[in-house]
Amino acid sequence: MNTQKDWKIKMRVLVTGGAGYIGSHTCVELLNVGHEVFVVDNLCNGHEAALERVRGITNRELQFTNADIRDANALDNIFNTFKPEAVIHFAGLKAVGESVANPLKYYEVNVGGSISLLSAMSKAECNNIVFSSSATVYGKPKYLPYDEEHPTNPVNPYGRTKLMIENIIHDWTKVDLKRKGTVLRYFNPVGAHESGQIGEEPIGIPNNLMPYIAQVADGRREHLNIFGNDYETADGTGARDYIHVIDLALAHIGTLNQNKLDRFEVLNIGAGKSTTVLELVSKFEEISGVPIKSKYLPRRDGDLAAFWANPSKASEKMSWKPERNIKKICEDTWRWHKLNSTGYEGE
Ligand code: NAD
Ligand code: UD1
Repeated sequence: MNTQKDWKIKMRVLVTGGAGYIGSHTCVELLNVGHEVFVVDNLCNGHEAALERVRGITNRELQFTNADIRDANALDNIFNTFKPEAVIHFAGLKAVGESVANPLKYYEVNVGGSISLLSAMSKAECNNIVFSSSATVYGKPKYLPYDEEHPTNPVNPYGRTKLMIENIIHDWTKVDLKRKGTVLRYFNPVGAHESGQIGEEPIGIPNNLMPYIAQVADGRREHLNIFGNDYETADGTGARDYIHVIDLALAHIGTLNQNKLDRFEVLNIGAGKSTTVLELVSKFEEISGVPIKSKYLPRRDGDLAAFWANPSKASEKMSWKPERNIKKICEDTWRWHKLNSTGYEGE
């Protein structure tokens, strides 16, 4: 279990993409255990208001620069002044459909941005990076649950950028024995901070299930489209491994002070069990008290029937274990939506 006393070493941590969904929640947990935090984010999908709320939740200061991670001068300035001891690297683009339509943008921002970041780290002799990867690197399951030994075969440009960056980080760690790279392969991050102050705010129509359900419940969308009810799952709808964003954030904290981690480590970060679309809808209805109207549509292109994580390596190597269940996920998501019907707008 992650408790304050487990994390004794305080570090200066640079968080790229810290104004985004997972980054802002991770900043809260970093500050809660006493680390110093500096965020670099170009706000293409993040919110400065989220950082202000992080300060409010934690009652701690955090520094912020609005810059693109491909801006070498901006990065050098941060490394020279803040002198981070570790980097948690969230910054990047994440829309699968957009990556198919505009692959070069994804290679440029995700891969190019990561190379620029690693170059700045090399120059400044900052030797520790934690990288946000995705279960999407596995591709079609050869067996389930996925463990870290499962072959990788991403099926879209977004997933390919993630795998390329993993490999680049691996090569970077081989150059110098002091370097350390930890790759976290997230499953399906959902939920919000229990204060209701920060959460996920997708721009436009949500692509992902949880924000869509919540927007039907809060009246912003008329009904949920369920993509397929003929899968080989318990009720025919797609099944995923939903992990509470705070459990995910705590996994990052776990990577910083663990000497059990190898110099290059790949870890699955998931809850270790799957939940179908209908199960999630039904739990959300129960928690919110709002009926979620839905319609069945054909399967979404490129979707897998079901996948979930074997997260035991992360539990063994760090004092970490997912503790927040689907009920808690729905409660926290609903609180965030009720308190922020227009997201961070109006700040
Ligand atoms: P997000 O879009 O909310 O956060 C990403 C942040 O990075 C945003 O604040 C954005 O403004 C910033 N950013 C993007 N490009 C940048 C650049 N070139 N320079 C500086 N800042 C830049 O996304 P998230 O859901 O918080 O995801 C964080 C990371 O986790 C991403 O790398 C994503 O690919 C990965 N990931 C997310 C999920 C998920 O479902 N949310 C799943 C697996 C992996
Ligand atoms: C998506 C991304 C994946 C990313 C993951 C993590 C795509 C194609 N894949 O995958 O790269 O790593 O999120 O968050 O975007 N569903 C509906 N109706 C909806 C939305 C979703 O029925 O409006 C169903 C889907 O068919 C799926 C399940 O809900 O069965 C979960 O979908 P989603 O939240 O988009 O996540 P992933 O498909 O796992």
